[in-house]
Amino acid sequence: MKARTVYTAILTAAIAAGTQAQAQFPVMQPPQHQPWDDASLSPDVRADMVVKELTLDEKIQLLHGPGWQAMFAPPGSGAAIKFANFIPGFPRLGIPDLQMTDSVEGVSGVGPTGRYATALPSAEAMAAGWDPSLSYETGTMIGREVRALGFNMSLGSGIDLTREPRDGRTFEYKGEDPLLAGTLAGQELKAEKAVHLITDLKHYAVNDQDAGRFTVNSVIGERAMRESDLLVFQIALKDSGAGAVMCSYNKVNGTYACENKYLLTDVLKGDFGFKGFVVSDWGATQSTVKAAMAGLDIEMPGSESFGEPLKKAVESGEVPLSRLNDMVHRILRTEFDAGIVDHPPQPHSPNVMRGFEVAQKVEERGAVLLKNAHSQLPLSAASIQSIAVIGGHADVGVLSGGGSSQVSPAGGNAVPPPPELAKNPLAIFLVSVYHRSAPLKGIRAKAPRATVQFDPGTDPVKAAALAKSSQVAIVFAVQHESEGMDVPNLSLPDHQDALIEAVAAANPHTIVVLETGGPVLMPWINQVSAVVEAWYPGIRGSEAIANLLFGDVNPSGRLPLTFPENEADLPHPPVNPPKADAAHPAPNLPGFPPMVAKVMQIGPSFDANYDEGLKVGYKWYDAEKKPVLFPFGFGLSYTSFAFSGLSVTPGDTTSVTFTVKNTGKRGGVETAEIYASLPEAAGEPPNRLVGWTQVDLAPGASKQVSVPVARDRLTIFDVPSNSWKLVPGEYVLRVGGSSRDLPLQQTVHF
Ligand code: BGC
Repeated sequence: MKARTVYTAILTAAIAAGTQAQAQFPVMQPPQHQPWDDASLSPDVRADMVVKELTLDEKIQLLHGPGWQAMFAPPGSGAAIKFANFIPGFPRLGIPDLQMTDSVEGVSGVGPTGRYATALPSAEAMAAGWDPSLSYETGTMIGREVRALGFNMSLGSGIDLTREPRDGRTFEYKGEDPLLAGTLAGQELKAEKAVHLITDLKHYAVNDQDAGRFTVNSVIGERAMRESDLLVFQIALKDSGAGAVMCSYNKVNGTYACENKYLLTDVLKGDFGFKGFVVSDWGATQSTVKAAMAGLDIEMPGSESFGEPLKKAVESGEVPLSRLNDMVHRILRTEFDAGIVDHPPQPHSPNVMRGFEVAQKVEERGAVLLKNAHSQLPLSAASIQSIAVIGGHADVGVLSGGGSSQVSPAGGNAVPPPPELAKNPLAIFLVSVYHRSAPLKGIRAKAPRATVQFDPGTDPVKAAALAKSSQVAIVFAVQHESEGMDVPNLSLPDHQDALIEAVAAANPHTIVVLETGGPVLMPWINQVSAVVEAWYPGIRGSEAIANLLFGDVNPSGRLPLTFPENEADLPHPPVNPPKADAAHPAPNLPGFPPMVAKVMQIGPSFDANYDEGLKVGYKWYDAEKKPVLFPFGFGLSYTSFAFSGLSVTPGDTTSVTFTVKNTGKRGGVETAEIYASLPEAAGEPPNRLVGWTQVDLAPGASKQVSVPVARDRLTIFDVPSNSWKLVPGEYVLRVGGSSRDLPLQQTVHF
């Protein structure tokens, strides 16, 4: 079947599903008073009352998302993409439809419906703020837009830890540390729940590369998993009260995540005490009885493992009625708990201006100043006469990441793709979408008296000539990342390294602004004077970047993941999925109709061995004593800070007290990071993040702060006893401005 035909078939199915969903929209109000309307009853009691009213068919219906969503539809195709993420409710009982939308960086994909949603900076940029209160504010904004657009369930946040920085979804996640990512996601979803949404954490678990995501088997030790990849979910769940957890496509230690009893029942519902429901990623259900008995509660499209096959399994007793009722109970109790029954969304136009403000704030807090030789930045609007702005389509917009998290670009893609690419069935992954927020415009607005000229950067000789005739050159360098594939390496694509080298050779005042999903290599780092990591900057990228470059905002972002010096320093070479051939056929994945499997080039199963174990991210570089380009937790400011007076009081909650002083000439925010080295007997990597705080200080001001470190942060997971243990011995607590700059330390005993 030709690609075009495949695409049309998928699209037709999606539009049909969308139309069906829209018929149910807006969410129906309960027609009459029902006993479970009594909000003073507990969610569990209310859920049980409804379960008793449901027929077998109704129960089965609640566990299965009908129709494959149009995830392959290119922007502007007219498909009602996100309305297909839907499970019909029970109008006769006042139980609403479940209307789901992706929301990792704002409500995604609603553009074709003619609606609007704020495009936030990438999740990685949000994490780089290290600011739980900003995560809460962002969650409130996302939640309000999700509801304004008529949805009652959000499909964010993504919290897979960055073990493999070439993962194409790095931009959708929150870095490499479980405490940082778990805390920030916890606050974001707590806020979404507070505005009455069912929230979701994904992708559970160890979904750490996207190349071959349907067939990869993540091989990992139990202790390593519990202390990193699963711990991040444990922390985020505790803080957020999230109602759903999305199981991932991959296998973990030989068993698909969505039918993995250890992950879903033993750990999530058992050890973590999770009372909500497990929803499959789209097409990730590979079995009926095995998945249901392992703990999967809802199957989303396009597999048909639940629905009729589940009904038969219940009738035959292979899936006991008690388990079926548990599945249904979990969904209904979550609906009551989140308040979507008592407070159904009332669709209206989202508050655009509020969304824009939050997007700008996230970028201003999340952009990381990586280098600033001779105080090249901030630029002085009063004295600068000429600026060359080069590359990255900075004349029209800012880049974003591709896939299901893609927020539709307001006004269309600022850099329209070539027609053949736009028609590709995988366009949603392949097309680089630029939001219409042009950095060139923001820079011109800051320096109205200067000559600001743009060069596209396609010819390094021309770009260098413009740079030479300008006082300052600002190169915008871009790297597109997308769900569904990994980046081939950590180098900037399309010869941008050569461009930066040519410009830097022509002008000693060269500033590089990076719009990347994660870390990139910088062979030119010693030749440029300043580097700003702007991530994917979102709909107010232009204003935020200009504010940072000209000093209206003092940079305060900190890296949520390590930038390695070179790829050989990573724990592994890339693990590329093998292609299917006669000897190695693709497995039969019921989640994927053969035509979809073919378009996606699904091959045979393969292993990704995470044998670095506990040593995720900075823990790897520290343990292996490898130099890095920029360490975890690093970020410069236009001012400077000093730390002093550490005093650690050990206890059930250990109190870490110290003073931070602003020793420079500008006000600024410092992130004070606390790391612990455990006793040698614990067998841990050298340092782990155990807490942090942020201090906003005027020039010359200082502040004493106390940061509580909970006992849990110092424990290790003991596999034989399936419990967390504090290893007796010497603990060194260190404090400073990055994982590799920790001037204060004190040893305590437990
Ligand atoms: C992605 C999920 C997403 C789902 C629904 C899948 O392809 O992996 O992150 O929530 O689609 O859009």
